[in-house]
Order: sequence, then structure tokens, then C-alpha cells
Amino acid sequence: MSHARPHAILGLSAYYHDAAACLLLDGRVVAAAHEERFTRIKHDPSFPGKAAAWVLAESGLELSDVAAVAFYDKPYLKFERLLETYHAFAPRGLHSFLSAIPVWIKEKLFMRRMLRDELSALGEGRPPILFPEHHLSHAASAYFACPWDEAAILTVDGVGEWATTTIGSGRGNDLTILRELEFPHSVGLLYSAFTYWCGFKVNSGEYKLMGLAPYGDSASERTMRIEQAIRDELVDIRPDGSILLNMDYFDYATGLTMCRDAPFERLLGVPRRTPETALGQEHMDTALAIQRVTEDIVARLAATARDVTGQRRLVMAGGVALNCVANGKLLRSKVFDDIYVQPAAGDAGGALGAALAAWHIHGGHPKTAADDGPNSGRDIMRGSYLGPEFTNADAERVARRHGAPFKRFDDFGELCAEVAGLLDDQNVVGWFQGRMEWGPRALGNRSILGDPRHPETQKKLNLKIKYREGFRPFAPSVLVEDADRYFELDGVASPYMLLVADVAKARLKPLPRGYASLPMYDRLYVQRSDIPAVTHVDNSARIQTVDAAVNPRYHRLISAFKERTGCSVVVNTSFNVRGEPIVCAPGDAYRCFMRTEMDYLVIQDCLFAKADQPEWTEQGDWRDEYELD
Ligand SMILES: [Fe+2]
Repeated sequence: MSHARPHAILGLSAYYHDAAACLLLDGRVVAAAHEERFTRIKHDPSFPGKAAAWVLAESGLELSDVAAVAFYDKPYLKFERLLETYHAFAPRGLHSFLSAIPVWIKEKLFMRRMLRDELSALGEGRPPILFPEHHLSHAASAYFACPWDEAAILTVDGVGEWATTTIGSGRGNDLTILRELEFPHSVGLLYSAFTYWCGFKVNSGEYKLMGLAPYGDSASERTMRIEQAIRDELVDIRPDGSILLNMDYFDYATGLTMCRDAPFERLLGVPRRTPETALGQEHMDTALAIQRVTEDIVARLAATARDVTGQRRLVMAGGVALNCVANGKLLRSKVFDDIYVQPAAGDAGGALGAALAAWHIHGGHPKTAADDGPNSGRDIMRGSYLGPEFTNADAERVARRHGAPFKRFDDFGELCAEVAGLLDDQNVVGWFQGRMEWGPRALGNRSILGDPRHPETQKKLNLKIKYREGFRPFAPSVLVEDADRYFELDGVASPYMLLVADVAKARLKPLPRGYASLPMYDRLYVQRSDIPAVTHVDNSARIQTVDAAVNPRYHRLISAFKERTGCSVVVNTSFNVRGEPIVCAPGDAYRCFMRTEMDYLVIQDCLFAKADQPEWTEQGDWRDEYELD
């Protein structure tokens, strides 16, 4: 028997943060995973040996079957940038991309040798290695994955080799970068400087800064003063969205920290917050100010993208595209008819973008949208469920090893009804199904679930399960067909939790008297809607819409919850504890289950309970017991 072997491309991202591997077969993404999920080291930047070995094994391939390796470049050019940055900056703004030469095929001997060494551990074979550049990879990860056959492209992050922002155009398999903004002028690094200033970790705490912003007082003199100071002194924002940062205030180009503390403090009038200490109103106002500035820059960049491409739809990637508050505002501004964001918009997604660039641009293959033709309305990501999956036998093996009590359901509907009842009774349930998610968000296959209607759910999840700061609400997963009954989404789907929209007005409740003067956590725990556990202090929510065609099991569970309670929403938080990556295998899930006060765990068709269910009781002031972030 003989048949044509599929053309396999192995995409890799590594050496910065969030290493990852993915595999394309004839242009279809068949497997993708972050290295951290295997090594259990959060944001693991090392060569993704385990993820690469898994994507090959999943596809039944050896390294020698791979036609090309596509690497999302980093250290070599970064080194060059660091050397050159010591010379004077030449601020050029958002200039045209002049080079027609595909720089990404350039020889990079140093990287090539390093990768060869690492790849040799995966097996025999020396496939050619291609090096699409950082922002081309981001652009390709959004455009070639999107449901449309043409679109404007916007990539915004901290920095790649030199580029920090690009505007491009995609048409068929042609992707052209039209505008480029270069280091050190970077929206991502500006946001990261404030992440650092507010005491969060750079490259991972940006999401927390975004979550803190709604606590800022939008009408206060301080917020307005900080925002004005940012605009007057730190960043010159031009009408086209290009920016010039005042490098007198920043230290990342040549130093080891993000900003120069003394001038930064003088300018903002807010001292840097020491990590893990209490958050003051001044930090909340600072977060709001920089969030507003960022939204303004993103809006101007989008308008420029619209002008220079003439396109009606926009695709986005790069770390700043994970700012789902900015994305939601951009969508509502109607600059574009529709927006698509790659679910792995950060650097892990570069692995997929590099592979897609190799297939479509280097290989010249036509763009495909989904499995059912261009403009079908579906992307190629298959819900982003692209990681490892496990069986009931795997779950039972874990149960035997740990002597864990469990019940296996033959009827999935019965299991869903049982879990719906547990959630309705205020239990927190680990929900482990099918293939692991690709990208930073858990989307119902490696999730911890709760009842959004109950005022205590949020506190319980923060305190007893995630062991983390409580200032951010949890995200809702809602049946896509019911989404407009709960959120102001205007019929737009948000399958990857990358859009923030307001909770529907009819669901909001009046705020108690004296609300504005309440301390932070008391404000969060005010019941401002009939789904309080997922409603932020500004009445917004980070929404995941769940489609039966994309994740039938998760959809079925939420439907069972709706049938029992009338509520089409569950609380969805990622299946991990503070400081750890999301669980990958049943053993990881079981350990997380036992180490926390999660009440039940479902792995495939098996429902695990704890031998001795501890009663949940309030024990003192949990804010003192746990670190703040
Ligand atoms: Fe990036």
C-alpha cells in the first residue's frame, strides 16, 4: 500500500518566554502545546523538547518525516539589537517597510547550530530550518488562522528582533508588512513598565494590571493628572498610532530594569509598589491611566491599518492583543466590521505562526479557512483544543495509584446532570476533558468550574483553590446562543476569552450607599449583578462563548446547568494553582485536586470525590493569609 506522505512542518518558539511546538500536516494544524505544560515550569523558555516530541508522536511521525522546521527567531538578532542599542536611538516612528527581500530566509548560523543540537535529541533526520521573523510569525499566526481570505493585520508586542508593532495586509496567501515601528518605541514595553511600577511581574503580570484598571477612579484628579503626565512626558502618540517613548524615563534598552525609578516617581507622583504589598488607590488610578493610553494607541493603530489596507476586517496577534479590554473597545468602535485574535497571541503562538508562514509564504500554498472553505466563519484552530488528550483508562490508572474513590458514568448526560447539581450546591468542580488548550486561557477542557450566581463562589475559588489575590473576578463561559441574554456582545462570539464586554443592563443591581468609599475587596464582593462571581467592578466580563459544534461536551455540561437552574453561565478558571502551569495529564489534575479544597474532579467520564469532604468555613481574614499576587 502506498500513499503520498503529508507535508509536515514543525513550528518552534523558544529561548524568550513561553516556548512551544506545533505541527502542520499539509497546512492543517494537528497538534500544538506549550512546553511549560510538560515540564511544569511556568512560562518555561527552554527549547521545547517535550512539546516537540509530543507533537511528533501524536502525528505518528519521526523527525526524519518532517519536511521543514520553522523557528520563531529570537536570540541572535536580539543580541545584535542590544549591541546597536548602545548607540544613539534614531527615532523614526511608524515608517514604511522598505525591504522587499524576505529577510526571514537569511542565514543565522549561530541559531542553526544551536537548534541542530537540540533537534538531534528528537531523533534522526536533518530537516531544513526556516527562520520567519518574530513579527512576521505573529502576523502569520493571526492571518493564516483566521476565517477570512483577506484582512488587515496588526501585531503589537514588547519587542521581537527590532519591530515592536507592525501593520500588514493579507490577501490569499500573500502577506505584506506595510508599516513597522521599531525598538525602543514599544507599546508592549510601555505597558510592561507600568506592570513593573505597580509591583507585578513583567511578561506575566500585564493581565493583572489590566484587571486592576477598573478599580481606578475615572473622574479623579489623580487619574487625569497621571494620564496627562504619560501623554506629555513619557510617550508622544502621533495621529497614526506610532509612538515615541522618552527614553530619559526608561531603562530597558540598556539596563536591567524597565524604568528609571527616580524620574518615573517624580513624574507620576506615585511610588513604585513593592511586589506582594497592599494595592493602594494610587496604583489603581495608575493602572487605569496607562490602560486608557494603551487603548488610545491601539485604536489609532487600528484606524491606520484600516486606512492603509482598505480592509473591513482586522486580525491581531502579539502580547498586546491579549489585552481583551482594548479588543472589546476596538470592536465596539466599529473601525472594523470584525476582529479576529489568535488565541495564542503571545510568543508561544509564534511557533504556529512560523509554521504557517513556512507553508503559505515560503511554500506558496493557498490560504485555507477552517475545514469548510474561506469565509465559512470558522478559523483553522479547532477551538484551540490542540494539546494532549487522555482516556478513561488513564483516569482509572490515576485512581488506582492513589486509592482514590471515583465513579465512572456510562452515560455522559447523566454525568453532566450530576455535575450540574454539584455546581448548583456551591461545589467547585475540576473539569478535565479531551484535548488540552493551546494559548494562555483554559476553555473548558482544563478548567475549574463554579456557580456564577453565588456571592461566595469568587471568594472560595480565590482562597481555597487558586491561592491568589482576589481582586480580579473570574471569567464566564456562556452558551453562545444565550450570550446576548447575559452580555452586551451584539451577537459577536468570543470563543477564546479575548473580548471583554459589559454584563447586560437588565442583570445589574443598584450599588449600596457609600459604595465609592469601600476598600478594594469589599467593592469586588458587592453583588452588582445576578452573576456576581464573573462581574468586574466596572460591570464588565471576560467572556468565553461556548459553541456546541466546537466543544460539544462543555456545551452539554453548561446546558445541563441551565436545565437545572435556568442559568446558561458557569464560572471558568484555569485548572492550576498559583505559580503553576495549567494541568496537562490526569496525574497533574489529581494532584492539584488533592492539594486544594476543590470539591470534585471530573476526568473524562470519571467523577472523583474526596474521601473526607472538609466543610468550607471562613477562617479569619484570608487577605492576611495569602500573598496578594
Ligand atoms: Fe512577540
